[in-house]
Amino acid sequence: KVLIVDFGSQVTQLIARRVREAGVYCEIAPFQAAEKAFNALNPKAVILSGGPRSVLEPDSPRAPKTLFESGVPILGICYGEQVMAEQLGGTVIAGHSHSREFGRAEVEILRESALFDGVWGRGKSYPVWMSHGDAVSELPEGFVPIATSPSAPLAAIADEARRFFGVQFHLEVAHTPDGAKLISNFVHKVAGLSADWTMGAFRQEAIAAIRAQVGSGRVLCGLSGGVDSAVAALLIFEAIGERLTCVFVDHGLLRQGEAEEVVTLFRGHYNIPLHHVEAKALFLGALTGVRDPEEKRKIIGRLFITAFEAEAKKIAADGRGAPEFLAQGTLYPDVIESVSFSGGPSVTIKSHHNVGGLPERMNMKLVEPLRELFKDEVRALGRELGLPEAFVGRHPFPGPGLAIRCPGGITPEKLEILRQADAIYLDEIRKAGLYDEIWQAFAVLLPVQTVGVMGDGRTYEFVCALRAVTSVDGMTADFYPFGMGFLGRAATRIVNEVKGVNRVVYDITSKPPGTIEWE
Ligand code: XMP
Repeated sequence: KVLIVDFGSQVTQLIARRVREAGVYCEIAPFQAAEKAFNALNPKAVILSGGPRSVLEPDSPRAPKTLFESGVPILGICYGEQVMAEQLGGTVIAGHSHSREFGRAEVEILRESALFDGVWGRGKSYPVWMSHGDAVSELPEGFVPIATSPSAPLAAIADEARRFFGVQFHLEVAHTPDGAKLISNFVHKVAGLSADWTMGAFRQEAIAAIRAQVGSGRVLCGLSGGVDSAVAALLIFEAIGERLTCVFVDHGLLRQGEAEEVVTLFRGHYNIPLHHVEAKALFLGALTGVRDPEEKRKIIGRLFITAFEAEAKKIAADGRGAPEFLAQGTLYPDVIESVSFSGGPSVTIKSHHNVGGLPERMNMKLVEPLRELFKDEVRALGRELGLPEAFVGRHPFPGPGLAIRCPGGITPEKLEILRQADAIYLDEIRKAGLYDEIWQAFAVLLPVQTVGVMGDGRTYEFVCALRAVTSVDGMTADFYPFGMGFLGRAATRIVNEVKGVNRVVYDITSKPPGTIEWE
């Protein structure tokens, strides 16, 4: 196991990705909790992340001293290198205009090192990604420089005896082409860890952990139609069989064919006990006349909880005892306490709807078998569990569903138009072979009617907007650069085949300043 100490870098999660890609399990702990995490995890190697602060600032973060005394190998990246150098007796100097470096740089290898073994050769130069102001100026005892660059003479340093390494450049980003190999060297060759973190092994461990946690209890799992809750449910079903009950609330805001797909897959294919709650009328009734996006989100969140509670009561009434556990498909990025230096409360952009708040209300304990995984690892686990490819690769879909893709008032007619347009758009994307390149793609039905001409007649119908973005985590996103040919085909089909739409536009806003969804 590897412990990554987070000093607040934007790319700390990438370090974790690289370590796991090397087949080694790792966890991230914020620097304030690093000592506790170190004692709990008993890691065989530690990586210190980069961070936004300067070690020269009076109250800037440090690594717990025990890490350096524990005998485990340590790799410091950027701020991590500087912290290590400073804490072990070296000196860091503030960045000057001539020594600051942002972006692509070259390092020259001065010495052989276990870190570079088989990847970087002495006397040669290699491209790396730098982003730093300060730099190490004097080495602590025992260290030698192993690579250098024009503006960072101590670009990489090592104390091979203690197995301490520091690099000024970012190993974890794609712009350092050999970075992943160097991280692999650190965990395998330096720390001697073997590559045994596989999905097969994870599946067995997770099943054992679920059995240990749940004992002879019962678990309730809400299915959203998305990949996370589906994978969580399959895993729990493997662990405890029919003591799992799934609840699927059909709020009438799903995409075309979605409810049937979920029900067929779980009941028909896997034979997992499933309560299919038909609540279309309830949700649509409550949403009638509501135009405000936040209001919509709150109504849906509230009704969802009520529906879920009612189902839990029914399940408890079957004589097999009330479920004490609630399963959630929480992923690792939601779990990590990220290090924030801004201090201020963050602004609510959108009230996200999921089953948050439910466990406290219902006095249930949480089962979260995916809380150590990243999204693509969840997909790999889904494949391992035999989940069909079409389900595994699904784009994310928001809890409030089509309600937030229909700005203004919602009616069953508008939802039907939106469903048809969306299905055609996705069909074209799949036909063009672009589905997997895109993070999320969907249609939005605007509350605006415009004039058109079809055949010899005048039309006065709705505008449909198409959205497609690429993203890594949904936090930032770029619009997808479709060719005009593709957009033309999708627009023509939508206008021809969907009654009620006579104009199609494409959204070319990134996030920020836009958001992915329109509401
Ligand atoms: P935004 O629109 O904020 O969306 O850029 C970022 C990602 O989150 C999804 N999203 C939601 N997911 N409940 C969810 O489970 C919600 O209420 C919700 N709102 C937005 C959105 O689809 C995108 O992937």
